[in-house]
Amino acid sequence: MHPSELADRHVVLVGMMGAGKSTVGEALAARLGRQFADTDELVEATAKATVREIFEVHGEAEFRRLEGVILHHALQVIEPGVIGCGGGVVTQVGNRRLLDDADRAFVVWLRARPDTLAARLAGVANRPLLDDDATTAIRQLADDRAGWYAEVADLVVDVDDRNVGEVVEAILS
Ligand code: S3P
Repeated sequence: MHPSELADRHVVLVGMMGAGKSTVGEALAARLGRQFADTDELVEATAKATVREIFEVHGEAEFRRLEGVILHHALQVIEPGVIGCGGGVVTQVGNRRLLDDADRAFVVWLRARPDTLAARLAGVANRPLLDDDATTAIRQLADDRAGWYAEVADLVVDVDDRNVGEVVEAILS
């Protein structure tokens, strides 16, 4: 990415659970001297409940509503930052429009093969959508969402076989 492309724009990371949006986002923000915001964390702080509790008590639709509000606010912050989005942000047409239309958003899809995601998420219990058969769910969600990630992305970075530093370099180069 050319520096002038980036100067006034938020870098928004999208991609599946396990793609590394939070770790890459934090490293990228540190590298750029920016704030990092994670939509899941902002949703949890706003709702004063965990993602799992929101899903269980209010349902996924309410989680998606809150996530959309948070994304909208995060994009409006004046100071350009790095924003890590929950993997399902692209499932909502309103969010896809926000990402498409925001002149100030440079959207990066951290793309990973389902087997990479399954390996990274093995034993992790905080993703309600993966409670039943995680490997099958990952494959299905990745398949359902690939077109949406592609639609909103200004840049696609394959993260398989790359460490955090290599992914950050791939975004910046
Ligand atoms: C979700 C991804 C999660 C979280 C929620 C739903 C999804 O965020 O928002 O569990 O639908 O893919 P991460 O992608 O940060 O794990």
